[in-house]
Amino acid sequence: METPYGLVEPIVGKLANREIVFMNRHGRNHATPPHLVNYRANIWAIRDLGVRKVLATAAVGSLSSTFQLGELVLPDQFLDFTKNRPQTFYEGGQKGVLHVDMTEPYCAAARQVIMEASAHVGLQVKNGACYVCTEGPRFETPAEIRMFQRLGADLVGMTSVPEVVLARELGMCYASIGMVTNEAAGIAKHPLTHAEVMESMKELGLKVAELIQATFELWTPDQNCLCASGNGEAGKF
Ligand code: HPA
Repeated sequence: METPYGLVEPIVGKLANREIVFMNRHGRNHATPPHLVNYRANIWAIRDLGVRKVLATAAVGSLSSTFQLGELVLPDQFLDFTKNRPQTFYEGGQKGVLHVDMTEPYCAAARQVIMEASAHVGLQVKNGACYVCTEGPRFETPAEIRMFQRLGADLVGMTSVPEVVLARELGMCYASIGMVTNEAAGIAKHPLTHAEVMESMKELGLKVAELIQATFELWTPDQNCLCASGNGEAGKF
């Protein structure tokens, strides 16, 4: 599918008797690293296809003993330590200027539905954590992880920003299921590997699929939250 930001490959299908769009942010075979993901094209495409609610998944490292390996956690805040990513659709000129509100970056109503769904399928999910987004693709140094801990981060990943921001700029609800795949650098007793993260993801995959299905069974198309007016100040485009 063409977008003003490039080509993407969304998959349209059905889940829980709803029409859905599946977007693999890393592309086929996980070929696109986090710092090169075309976040704007991905988010633009799904909005253009009519999506109003986004349920993302994200591998995360844990910075806190509160969040253990294999747990599912819904971030409610983020710290942005990305360095080189287009962060907005609103680039001035004809496109306008928007200082989008990020008081509640991850839709609280959507998170609540995921929590209800988790009870239906008997999965433990934790609601609320601060996600720090790093630029990657390298993992962090232990010194960086200590800094992030002091700043209040609980989880570390490389993809949630600017995805969550761009979704709000287009008036969509966005929540993310964080899958704790590893202890962050320096907390883990061993060096980190991509293989370790992918292995944990595989193990968590079935659980998360069940949770997504249950969430979609409960999700209604209406947006009972402020996300839809995320771009109200600048007008929609
Ligand atoms: N750091 C950054 N991104 C990640 C990690 C990590 O430890 N684990 C999974 N994604």
